[in-house]
Amino acid sequence: MHFTSDNASGVPEQIIAALARANAGFAPSYGADALMDEVRARIRALFEAPRAAVYLVATGTAANALSLATYCPPWGAVYCHRIAHIEEDECGAPEFYTGGAKLVKIDGEGGKMTPPALEVRLAAAAPVGVHNVQKGMLSLTNLTEAGTRYSPAEIAALASVARAHGLPVHLDGARFANALTAEGCTPAEMTWRAGVDVLSLGGTKNGLMGAEAVVIFDPARAWEFELRRKRGGHLFSKHRFLSAQFAAWLEDDLWLNLARRANAMAARLEGGLAGLPGARLRFARGGNMVFAELPRKAHARARAAGAQYYPWPPEQGEDGPETQPIGVRLVTSWCTGEADIDRFLAALKGEGDQKAG
Ligand SMILES: Cc1ncc(COP(=O)(O)O)c(C=O)c1O
Repeated sequence: MHFTSDNASGVPEQIIAALARANAGFAPSYGADALMDEVRARIRALFEAPRAAVYLVATGTAANALSLATYCPPWGAVYCHRIAHIEEDECGAPEFYTGGAKLVKIDGEGGKMTPPALEVRLAAAAPVGVHNVQKGMLSLTNLTEAGTRYSPAEIAALASVARAHGLPVHLDGARFANALTAEGCTPAEMTWRAGVDVLSLGGTKNGLMGAEAVVIFDPARAWEFELRRKRGGHLFSKHRFLSAQFAAWLEDDLWLNLARRANAMAARLEGGLAGLPGARLRFARGGNMVFAELPRKAHARARAAGAQYYPWPPEQGEDGPETQPIGVRLVTSWCTGEADIDRFLAALKGEGDQKAG
């Protein structure tokens, strides 16, 4: 009953097998390996973007921070949602890698900003002069940090506001595959066709051991990214092991099937919670995350049965008055089992054996 994060999941056997295969013999280092050529070709084909530049790094923070640094000058502002991962969870890496760009937060229900809210912020930006931070770029997240999802049309509407102010657009796709499969659109529709310039394509939350791609749709930016990745200490020498993970993940739709599985488990969880007296779903589920309010007694029973998940918002903590529900974040992954969900729901309801952990 592990619902803390999709990062807590293991790695599917196809990825382990690919790593073992890549381990044989010698291979060119620093991204010159043949598997990287395969990854690049596959991503270009999947995204219908034959000229896109594709790079691999090991963490989502590196993917985001290096992407932002490539598009935003040190004196620029990155417009993002108030609860964006780049704002709340990257220890200032975006500011560090951009050389001091300012993150400007925009509010919005369920982790999503709206075009009018973005327009108001941009229109209200101080007049352009030497004393002011300049408008830099827009960064969106899909799935959002509240588990909701932007449709391609919503991304396009936000990107067109950004574009009208001359700003490029970054998409943090740590859970891109979850968003894509839930939406049922193509990778191109969710990115460059909607106005996205650079994508952090997350692999780790969706089955990889530690690999994320950066997809830059305008190859003119590629060299700068390469220099920044090396200078930032994120160019792997034994790169073939990053490439091997991605190549296997993209083969036979594995990446999509893993995400579909995680989303289906979240749907099962959501369905069960809807039948729990006193429980309330917080946001419209976009993929593999469920945000809910649980009655304290149900929460205590689940904890006693060994269920693991985080209170949300995080500052809320574990304790509170009996009469007040607790907000929680429940994340499923490719290896979440149906039985785990059913056991968790039974524990919340106070049914059956609550001892197993
Ligand atoms: C929205 C989002 N972006 C990026 C990341 C990547 O973070 P990390 O640097 O931990 O791989 C995460 C992981 O929690 C995330 O939730």
